[in-house]
Amino acid sequence: MPERLLACMQGPPSDLEIQILRTQCAKFPRIICEGCCGSGRHLLGLAARDPQTLCIGFELRYKRAFRTIEKSLEQGLDNVLVLRTDARSMPALLPPASVAEVHINFPDPWDRKRWHKHRVLSPQFLDGVASLLREGGTFHYKTDHRECFDQAVAWLSHHPAFETSLITYDLYESPLAAANIKTEFESLFRSQSLPIMALVASRRPIID
Ligand SMILES: C[S@@+](CC[C@H](N)C(=O)[O-])C[C@H]1O[C@@H](n2cnc3c(N)ncnc32)[C@H](O)[C@@H]1O
Repeated sequence: MPERLLACMQGPPSDLEIQILRTQCAKFPRIICEGCCGSGRHLLGLAARDPQTLCIGFELRYKRAFRTIEKSLEQGLDNVLVLRTDARSMPALLPPASVAEVHINFPDPWDRKRWHKHRVLSPQFLDGVASLLREGGTFHYKTDHRECFDQAVAWLSHHPAFETSLITYDLYESPLAAANIKTEFESLFRSQSLPIMALVASRRPIID
């Protein structure tokens, strides 16, 4: 599945993998990116909802990335691509203002202070997402981790490129519930009655 799973065995994507990524992007009028996509339930849900949109997942674990593409083939979805690489490299791999939506769902919280540097969400990552999103594009975040959620809310509220359009501390009692696609981890946390928090932030108009 070399056209669909970019395994990035040498670390960063090779020149050939970058070329495949660009070729796939050129085939679709709309692009969505999902970082830390796990085994892909949410990514495939997005792809099934809109076959005209290329849904690109970023997942470090090979088995999960592989399983995502395997399932996409079983489901007859040809608008899914997965890069087995760091989600934080997303802004460097795609052209500026080219993406309609960026999703991050239940990223690892890296709880210990000295591990915080491994967290995917950071002010620097949000700067990258701002450059990646086209005008009116949206950033979507779901988590069960209150501290990480509050931090993201604060960063976004101070970020000049974003307007936070929805924040909820209880996703299932919010307007987001109707269109929500559950992730694998979300199902697990839900079965443990853990609160699921979510937000959506829109890219403000880009002024040159
Ligand atoms: C807690 S799981 C959540 C998976 C999925 N989003 C879900 O909600 O079911 C976090 C996932 O992020 C992946 N991951 C961790 N750090 C990453 C990074 N920097 N870039 C891409 N994937 C990462 C892990 O391998 C794991 O599959």
